[in-house]
Amino acid sequence: MSEILVETKNLSKSYGKLKALNNMSMTLYKGDIYGFIGPNGAGKSTTFKILSTILIPDTGTATINGISITRGSEVRGLIGYMPDSFGVYDDMTVYQYLDFFAAAYFIPSKKRKSLIHDILELTDLTFKRDAMVQSLSRGMQQRLGLSRVLIHDPKLLILDEPASGLDPRARIEFRELLKELVKMGKTILISSHILSELSEICTRVGIVEQGKLIYEGSRSEIEEKLLGYGRIIVELKDAEAAVHCQAVLKKAPFKIEMVIYDYKLNISISKDGTDLDDIIRYLFEHDIKIKAFYKSKLSLEDAFMNITEGKLA
Ligand SMILES: Nc1ncnc2c1ncn2[C@@H]1O[C@H](COP(=O)(O)OP(=O)(O)O)[C@@H](O)[C@H]1O
Ligand SMILES: [Mg+2]
Repeated sequence: MSEILVETKNLSKSYGKLKALNNMSMTLYKGDIYGFIGPNGAGKSTTFKILSTILIPDTGTATINGISITRGSEVRGLIGYMPDSFGVYDDMTVYQYLDFFAAAYFIPSKKRKSLIHDILELTDLTFKRDAMVQSLSRGMQQRLGLSRVLIHDPKLLILDEPASGLDPRARIEFRELLKELVKMGKTILISSHILSELSEICTRVGIVEQGKLIYEGSRSEIEEKLLGYGRIIVELKDAEAAVHCQAVLKKAPFKIEMVIYDYKLNISISKDGTDLDDIIRYLFEHDIKIKAFYKSKLSLEDAFMNITEGKLA
């Protein structure tokens, strides 16, 4: 069993009457890239702010590397928090920006130059060393944000929606960088409201809704959990046959949802699950000639929609 790096237990937080977190409990192991996924307003940023000691929870506890978040100064040395917006540091060059944060972390001026050099190499921003921060593209700004949180060499990176607004290329570069950081021994907690944005790099995923963690597991566990309801594809001879097949199935005693794509019928099966046998038997009895019949794999996005629609609850 891997070592736990972050553990929250029943964190709750209200803003006035609005309950943003409602018993949020989650666990991160060392070396995880943990995708914290949920729709807007689910409480992702609030959780991150609590872990970063910016906000104090109303109730509940959290530890980072065994240290309670109530011990702010100790915890802050362990984490690098990148908020969802870049901040307002205009009229500074990339170098000045990083130098400023290095100073804020009390890194002696003698060491800063080589440290910043190394970080810029890692995040591939060396060529922008003397550029103004506001002149950087969104992708470069995100890499600069990441550079900043690396300055004090924290164990845990907390990245709030870093991939949002990145073009596909920048997103891939960002992913590669995160993988690199994990190889260097970092643990990464990263949020998104789009599962597919993170699915390829995360080792574990936690799904949040209305201030609660409603599911936590590895990517393969998510898929497994949802196995048994997905889609069935029935392939017919041609489009006409598909329309006929659909008409026949509509009269069946079981209820299924269908969509036609040309000569294929795409059937969704729900949790209360129509038995596949029933469908096959019914088609056979009604003399429908099938070219192929197979289960299509759920995409992770489908899985996510199913989970957040409460279908698993
Ligand atoms: N400072 C604040 N004051 C009042 N309400 C807030 C504040 N910050 C967040 N909220 C509300 O709390 C809920 C959770 O917000 P947040 O943690 O930002 O969610 P997420 O990051 O998942 O989108 C939302 O309904 C949001 O509108
Ligand atoms: Mg947010």
